[in-house]
Amino acid sequence: MFNRGNRMLKQRNDAQSIRMPVITTFLILICVLVWVLYRETGEKPDSLSGLMKENLNSFRSSVKLDPTVEFRNGTDLIWQIPDSPKAILFLAHGCNGKAANFWDRSPKCPNCVGLPEERLIVLNALARRFAVLVVSSAERCWSFEEERLIVKDIIEWWVVKQKLQSLPLVALGASSGGYFVSVLATDLRFSSITIMIAEGLFDQMDIPKSYPPTLFVHMPKDKRRRVIIERYLTLLKGKGIDVAEIKCMEFALSPNLLADRIPGLDLATSVRLYNLFKEKGFIDTKGFMRNDGRAIKWKAALKEGEIILPDKSIVNHIQEEMNLAFAYHEMTSLQSEHIFNWFETHMS
Ligand SMILES: *[C@@H]1O[C@H](CO)[C@@H](O)[C@H](O)[C@H]1NC(C)=O
Repeated sequence: MFNRGNRMLKQRNDAQSIRMPVITTFLILICVLVWVLYRETGEKPDSLSGLMKENLNSFRSSVKLDPTVEFRNGTDLIWQIPDSPKAILFLAHGCNGKAANFWDRSPKCPNCVGLPEERLIVLNALARRFAVLVVSSAERCWSFEEERLIVKDIIEWWVVKQKLQSLPLVALGASSGGYFVSVLATDLRFSSITIMIAEGLFDQMDIPKSYPPTLFVHMPKDKRRRVIIERYLTLLKGKGIDVAEIKCMEFALSPNLLADRIPGLDLATSVRLYNLFKEKGFIDTKGFMRNDGRAIKWKAALKEGEIILPDKSIVNHIQEEMNLAFAYHEMTSLQSEHIFNWFETHMS
């Protein structure tokens, strides 16, 4: 930036058409610009971790996960209703996901997994008085024909059973669940939806005028999806549908991050993992992931580093956070405030 500035100054000096005060002002302007840009990028990781902490701390006292598990239409559904709910949130997981990922293991849900991002989305929802309903897909991923009818049935049945018919209904789907929610929105009346790390199936459907306001939460590092999302934003906007996007960027791991976000993972283990990742070159000197967690042979490194996890299943929790930090394709709760603002401002 300085180089370009100097070159421009030089050209102008050669032309001898600018006096000293103008040049000085110009230089000062450049300095201010550089300082502002530097300050902004320098601040991002801080504000992000600030946001993480704030979120985590505020939950410890106010909301508790307390699920109810049921079976219907050959699948399981898990739900929780806070005091005086103001809306209903339907959540659709990605491939290999299930309802049990959204709540911690407890006597009421012995098979629950409590993946870090999933459980934080539920906690955020409950803190903002959204009733939460999660259904598992019948197969590994969602399918877009009969399964839509089944899920529509389940949601409608559940809403009546819980006597919540008067409340607005919103939906959030991630990856395969994002495609699913994009079409389910033509079967059920959602007041708004969020499609996460997916572009939706807008090429394969008739988009009615009444299609709900749609928020895309995506990771621009996934360039293929980013390009299609840009196209769909224009397409939906052109049909008069309210749309917005949130771009989720990579961030640096810190020694305490895993302990902060994964229940049951202590600080000492978190620090050892961080150091191991650094030693093995999985993260760079600033703590940024060099690759997606799925693509790194980090589980073998665990054995080598003689790190014993409190619970074997925690490897999935750790990997989710690694994927999130790399920001290519992962469920994310970091944008919850934005997402729930979107839902709350589109409830008429
Ligand atoms: C779901 O189950 C209910 C109750 O058993 C049944 O009446 C309904 O037809 C089922 N829905 C679908 C789409 O199979």
